[in-house]
Amino acid sequence: MDRILVIGAGGQLGTELTKALAQKYGNDKIIATDFQETAKSKFEYCSFQTLNVMDKAALVNIVAQEHITQIYHLAAILSASGEKNPLQAWDLNIGSLLNVLEVAREYKVEKIFWPSSIAVFGPHSEKQNTPQQAYKDPNTVYGISKLAGEHWCEYYFNKYGVDVRSLRYPGLIGYKSMAGGGTTDYAVDIYHKAAKAEKLICFLKEDTYLPMMYMQDAVNATLQLMEAPKENITIRNSYNIAGMSFSPKEMHESLLPYYPKFEMEYQPDFRQAIADSWPNSIDDQCAKKDWDWKPAFDLNAMTAVIVKNLPAYFKY
Ligand code: SER
Repeated sequence: MDRILVIGAGGQLGTELTKALAQKYGNDKIIATDFQETAKSKFEYCSFQTLNVMDKAALVNIVAQEHITQIYHLAAILSASGEKNPLQAWDLNIGSLLNVLEVAREYKVEKIFWPSSIAVFGPHSEKQNTPQQAYKDPNTVYGISKLAGEHWCEYYFNKYGVDVRSLRYPGLIGYKSMAGGGTTDYAVDIYHKAAKAEKLICFLKEDTYLPMMYMQDAVNATLQLMEAPKENITIRNSYNIAGMSFSPKEMHESLLPYYPKFEMEYQPDFRQAIADSWPNSIDDQCAKKDWDWKPAFDLNAMTAVIVKNLPAYFKY
């Protein structure tokens, strides 16, 4: 019987992925955890516990007592926040992953999911359709921690047989939760500003292309990867996955049919250099081949859904 632990459930991805896992496996199979007690209000439909994943003993307790069979470890400090406190970002991103991998090994947890990111690529990686095996020279502490983490995942699989699976998410965009601390956050904020009839001060230049993905595609990709037969998983560090690529200017244009007066002003800050070091677009043929990955949303389809739902969801 499946018993699923979600770590960092209150975050941007966790909020939606936890719900999808509950719908798939049943509310009573899910234990949502977050280091913030305030996240509890999001999880009335399932069990919730406060957990600091850096506290290995507390993690072991939950895994042992709840007979956990799958862990989704989503807690991390993202790219922009990480640059403000690099050592803390390294400690949390790597320390927490090692705690999870160790507990998985010791308690024979059947499957682990851990997100990686397009941030593993760097200034010397191919920019367009960046391949799975591209040269990687990440220059943010977040990217460095994700690349090291990918190697740790592969190591635990090869050495101990821990079935850990991973995706290199692009910027994730949804309307049910806020982004926080990332370089792609403008692409979530933009919908809130437009709905509130406010101007967006964009921290990236108008022609900065980045790989992005609608949240429903990200959730589907995660469920698909985790359901795939073990023998189909040929990539044990982390899979490239692509949804769409666009610039802030194109995003602005996709919103104008709904909000003709919506304005953007460009004031690039330190996040511009991070964005410039990342790919413009991603080649995800391995994910397509191994577990049939196919995104459903492009920019206009995503904008149509978000514009329709976000204002009511946030009671604007
Ligand atoms: N969305 C993330 C960030 O901007 C990328 O993984 O940090």
